[in-house]
Amino acid sequence: MTLSLHDVDPDDADAQQLLAELSDILQALTGSSGRSSFSAADARGPGSRFVVARDASGRAVGCGALRPLQPGVAELKRMYARAGTRGVGAAVLAYLETAARELGYRAVWLETRAVNTRAVAFYTRQGYRRIDNFGRYVGNAAAVCLGKDWRMTIKELNAAQAQARVGELAEVLRDCVEGGASVGFMLPLAAGRPEAFWRRVAEGVAAGERHLFVAEDEHGRVCGTVSLVIDMPDNQPHRADVSKMLVHRRARRQGLAERLLLALEAKARELGKTTLVLDTVTGSDASRLYERLGWQKAGDIPNYALMPDGAPCSTTYYFRALTDSSRGA
Ligand SMILES: CC(C)(COP(=O)(O)OP(=O)(O)OC[C@H]1O[C@@H](n2cnc3c(N)ncnc32)[C@H](O)[C@@H]1OP(=O)(O)O)[C@@H](O)C(=O)NCCC(=O)NCCS
Repeated sequence: MTLSLHDVDPDDADAQQLLAELSDILQALTGSSGRSSFSAADARGPGSRFVVARDASGRAVGCGALRPLQPGVAELKRMYARAGTRGVGAAVLAYLETAARELGYRAVWLETRAVNTRAVAFYTRQGYRRIDNFGRYVGNAAAVCLGKDWRMTIKELNAAQAQARVGELAEVLRDCVEGGASVGFMLPLAAGRPEAFWRRVAEGVAAGERHLFVAEDEHGRVCGTVSLVIDMPDNQPHRADVSKMLVHRRARRQGLAERLLLALEAKARELGKTTLVLDTVTGSDASRLYERLGWQKAGDIPNYALMPDGAPCSTTYYFRALTDSSRGA
């Protein structure tokens, strides 16, 4: 469908018609039309946008709005694509995300209802992730808040890129170990030890033994990483291990580990892997992360490893079957 998108005033006749249709649909689906949480004035001020999409015949087929929520964050409102259209929601969203970047926002947040599973699935496909309920939705169990933050990007590094970024990767590893994480190293960390580790990882990438993912911050610096290790015995061609999931302390609690893991799982699927395995300190921040993302606990092994300060710790093994039903979890 050929679409054109234009900023309009929310009191424009087509906009009003689309908003009325949306309110009726939401009322029927969720019991709340959403009218009370949006006024035309919201989409007129600085930092706001209201867009209408039209098909080739000029018929209005969808709309959406942005309004300022808090510094750096815009709220997406009144997203609607008329039934029977295709690609309208994605086009409106892409248009508003571009507008949000131009307006200087770092993220877009939105609220939808848990019962609106089509909307949740749509936003998830578009790269939105669950965030803590914000503002008026705090404590509302029927509300689902989602967000997309483009300060941080996730990418896979090839061997040359990995080699070039050994210093940044070493900085993340050093920060995690100094922060008390048990990830294979003891304190004090000898000078050059993390760099030597990442040089070997880069060699592993070059040898096709692993895939290396990083999260970059708004300055393009590495602030998180995870590896998919595919160098397995001949009888385990379907298996891969997750290794060195690390997020710098300055970048934690923003969903980076979750995004890194989803990128890793997508790569594992692309490679035809069906069983993923990892281990982590029992009861750690990381074990919560894996359980939240649907990893299954295989069991605990007491006294498996040492914390960086020398205290013994228990390790929990987790596995994940990459079946269709676990897709996109
Ligand atoms: C474990 C680790 C990788 C998690 O990284 P992270 O990027 O902070 O992970 P996430 O942001 O995806 O999730 C962490 C928490 O932040 C919360 N969170 C995610 N996005 C959020 C947001 N936008 N706003 C508020 N909270 C958010 C998550 O719900 C989760 O909450 P919980 O700890 O209460 O369960 C990180 O703590 C780390 O590097 N630890 C040291 C190294 C380590 O132990 N690695 C594991 C080796 S197996």
